[in-house]
Amino acid sequence: MSELELEVLRRVGAGETLNTLDLATEKGVEHAVTSGVVRTLAADEMVTMDQKESKCFALTKDGEETLAKGSPEMILLQTLPAEGAPLAEIKKAHKVGMGHCMKKKWIQAQDGMVKPVADPTRVADELADILKRVQAGSFAEDSISADEAKTLKKRNQVTVIKTVSWDMSKGPQWATQRVKKEVALTKEMLDSGSWASTQFKPVNLRSLGVTNSAGYLHPLMQVRTEFRKILIGMGFEEMPTNRWVESSFWNFDALFQPQQHPARDAHDTFFVKEPAEASLANVDPTLVEDVKDMHEHGGGGSIGYRYDWSLDEAKKNILRTHTTAVSSRMLHELAKNKPFQPAKYFSIDRVFRNETVDATHLAEFHQVEGLVADYNLSLGDLIGVIKNFFSAIGIDNVRFKPAYNPYTEPSMEIFGYHPDLKKWTEIGNSGMFRPEMLKPLGLPEGVRVIAWGLALERPTMIKFRVRKIKELFGHKISLEKSRTSQLPLFKEHVNASSEK
Ligand code: PHE
Repeated sequence: MSELELEVLRRVGAGETLNTLDLATEKGVEHAVTSGVVRTLAADEMVTMDQKESKCFALTKDGEETLAKGSPEMILLQTLPAEGAPLAEIKKAHKVGMGHCMKKKWIQAQDGMVKPVADPTRVADELADILKRVQAGSFAEDSISADEAKTLKKRNQVTVIKTVSWDMSKGPQWATQRVKKEVALTKEMLDSGSWASTQFKPVNLRSLGVTNSAGYLHPLMQVRTEFRKILIGMGFEEMPTNRWVESSFWNFDALFQPQQHPARDAHDTFFVKEPAEASLANVDPTLVEDVKDMHEHGGGGSIGYRYDWSLDEAKKNILRTHTTAVSSRMLHELAKNKPFQPAKYFSIDRVFRNETVDATHLAEFHQVEGLVADYNLSLGDLIGVIKNFFSAIGIDNVRFKPAYNPYTEPSMEIFGYHPDLKKWTEIGNSGMFRPEMLKPLGLPEGVRVIAWGLALERPTMIKFRVRKIKELFGHKISLEKSRTSQLPLFKEHVNASSEK
C-alpha cells in the first residue's frame, strides 16, 4: 500500500472527508494521482467515493497577456505621449484598448489626434485586477463576483472548465491494511477450511464476453445444413455429389434427353476441353446399349426419338448442368439390388450453366434434388412429398403448373408464395421419371420414381433478404456479412416475414 493510500485511509478513518482535487493541491501532485488512489480504495470498499463537479477558470491567451502586461486600455494609456498621436495610427495599433479608453474617458479624440486625459499612475486597471484575484483564488469559480466573471468571459480573458473530483470517506471495508482478495475458490481452501475467512473479489456477472472474431458459416451452407437435416428427418438418404465434371452420358443420355436437345449445345452447357472425353469404360456396356436403343427405337410402348445415337456425343465431358445426373447414377446402382428395394434419396450441391449473369442468375448455383423410388407411386405421391418438404422449410402454400422436361412425364413446376414480393414465384421443378429413362437404367417394371429439384439460392435469398445473387455467392460477397449473419431457423424466419 502506498504512503498516500495509507494517509487517506488514516484520515478518512478519523472522520475526515477528503476531496481528490484538494488533496492533489495539498500534496502538490497531479489530480490523476489522487483520483487513482480513490478508485483503487473504493474498488475494495475501503472508502466510499462521491462524485463532485466543480467549475474553475482557465486563462485564455488574451487573459495571460492582461495578467502579464496589463489590460489593452492601460497599455494604450501608458504608451500614449502627452502631446498625443494621430487617431488613424492608434485605431490601428490599439483597436481594443482605444474603445475601452474612450469609454473610461482616459483619452480624448480631436482633429484627427488622440490625447491622454488621465494619469496612468492614478487610475486603476480594473480588468487586470479581477484577473489577479482569480489567480490568487486558485482560479476557483467563487473567487470573483458573477458580474466580474461575466466581464472576463465577454472580453475573452477566461474560459470555464468543469472538473470532476471525488469526495472520499470511510467505507464499509475500511482498514489500514489491504487484504489480498482471492479470485477463485480452490480445492485447497475447501480442504483446509480457509475459505470461511477468505475474502473474495466480487464477480462481475454483467461483464460482456470477449467478441468472437471467428468466421461463420456462409448463408448458403447454413441453409444447406438445415435442408439436409429436414430431408434426413423425412427419411431421405444423401447421394454422393463429388463429381462436378460429368459425362454427357449421365447428365443427358441416361435421362433420355435427345442428343440434339437445345440444352446440350454451347448456350447452356460448359464443355470441358481437357479431357474432352470420358472413357465410359466403367459403365456397364448393356446400359450403354439399352440407352442407345431407347433413344433410337424406344421400347415398352414408346417409339423413341428415331435418330442415330452417337457414343462420341455421350462421351463429351461437361460441368454437370443439374444434380439429376447424380440421380441417374444412383438409380442405376439401386437397380442392381435384387429384389428391388424402395429408396428415398436427396442431394444438395453445385451445378453449372452457361447463363447470362444478372441479378438472379450466376453461371453456377446449387441444386436441392430429391427422389423417391417405389412400386405404384402416383402423381398424388409427388404432390404430397413436395408439399411436405416445402412445408418443412416454411413454405406452406405451394401450387403446381404443368411443365415439360425430357426425362419426366408428367412434369410440374412448383410455385411458392413469396412473402416479400407478395406474389407466386417459381421455386422448383418436378415430375415422374419417364419409363424410357427407368427401363435402360435397369429398374423393374412397375417401379416409379418421383423427383423434384430446386435452386438452393432462391430460398436462401428470401431468408437472408438478399436481393442480388452476387451479394450471396461468388467472389463479390462481403466477408463481413458472413461473419455477422445470424443463424435463424428457416421455418421461423419465413413465418415471421409472412406475418408482416
Ligand atoms: N433437373 C431439373 C432442373 O434442373 C429439376 C428436376 C429434377 C425436375 C427432378 C424434375 C425431376 O431444373
